[in-house]
Amino acid sequence: MIEASAPGKLYLAGEYAVVEAGYPAVIAAVDQHLFVRLEQVETGKIHSTQHPDLFVTWTRHDHHICPGATNPYQLITSSMQVVEDYVRALGVDTETFYQVEIRSDLDDEQSGTKYGLGSSGAVTVGVVKALLAYYKQAAVPLLVYKLSALAQLRIGASGSFGDLAASSFGGIVAYHSVDRTWLKEAMECLTILELVAQDWQGLSIESLDLPEGLELLVGWTGSAASTDQLVAGMQGQLQQEEKEAVHRQFLTANRLCLEQFIQACKANDRETVREAIRTNRQQLQDFSAGMGIVIETPQLARLCQLALAQGAVAKSSGAGGGDCGICLVDSPKQKEKITKAWEEVGIVPLPLSIAYRE
Ligand code: PMV
Ligand code: MG
Repeated sequence: MIEASAPGKLYLAGEYAVVEAGYPAVIAAVDQHLFVRLEQVETGKIHSTQHPDLFVTWTRHDHHICPGATNPYQLITSSMQVVEDYVRALGVDTETFYQVEIRSDLDDEQSGTKYGLGSSGAVTVGVVKALLAYYKQAAVPLLVYKLSALAQLRIGASGSFGDLAASSFGGIVAYHSVDRTWLKEAMECLTILELVAQDWQGLSIESLDLPEGLELLVGWTGSAASTDQLVAGMQGQLQQEEKEAVHRQFLTANRLCLEQFIQACKANDRETVREAIRTNRQQLQDFSAGMGIVIETPQLARLCQLALAQGAVAKSSGAGGGDCGICLVDSPKQKEKITKAWEEVGIVPLPLSIAYRE
């Protein structure tokens, strides 16, 4: 029996810009997890608490994982396939069958509520980690990230893969995104072992800590949002010249702000980190106005105002349009006051902390 887990994530800064190759974001892994259990069995099976009544069987034909019926587990089977391709290239036999059992704490199962903590990233990372362990390979964070990114790219997933970096490394990461165009080409002409051994263009993942005395506080707006739709909405606008200019300007300003954020974490400089959150919020507001997309909804704006009124800094997290906002607090008293103010307007403080590093 093998067990592995992967944490959820929240963007602290740099969302949207990070979708562009090589642009930075700061992302935190949070201590709410997705768990994967693998057990060797006669017939391959997949089961997840995300679809409690669904049991899918699988087998292999010519080293290809083949599910017995159409199913919503494409991310899981793609992750299985990538790890099997990788270990086979290392000379490991992949002949046994196993049952994959997924349990997620990232969403509220009872009510079906989605908090936007990144369950698709976590399921990919969790399955990759569990299968590496099943095949007796070390689950080194960078290897886990790379295999997870390949699993997602093979099935045409969009986005920066920043969630995969946070979930693979744990803690807080400064993430510069991989150049997807380069990666797609590299996938065509390199073997999986060469691909994994290469430096990836644009990519860097570095662990960070927040300056001492700053703590993460997370508020949930009560409504779920679709990252894919929001990112597609942004990309759809880029055909127009004037929107392209807005985007270019956003990218330049964002990079500067994120570099200051990252340096300030290294220098343990609390005030500059606070300033970077304020600046990045403003940049996202200007960007969304210029692009005609809604990132900071009225409820997210309320969340930020109530935090600011207590002297903290706050912003929307990730694609926005709902989901969560983040706030950095510097005293227990401040935290308590913000929590109370949020609750009065229906914002749910989530009991989350930053997850430990791998
Ligand atoms: O809403 P989230 O937490 O899934 O974050 C999305 C972040 C984006 O930069 C908007 C998209 C991406 O893939 O990086
Ligand atoms: Mg979101």
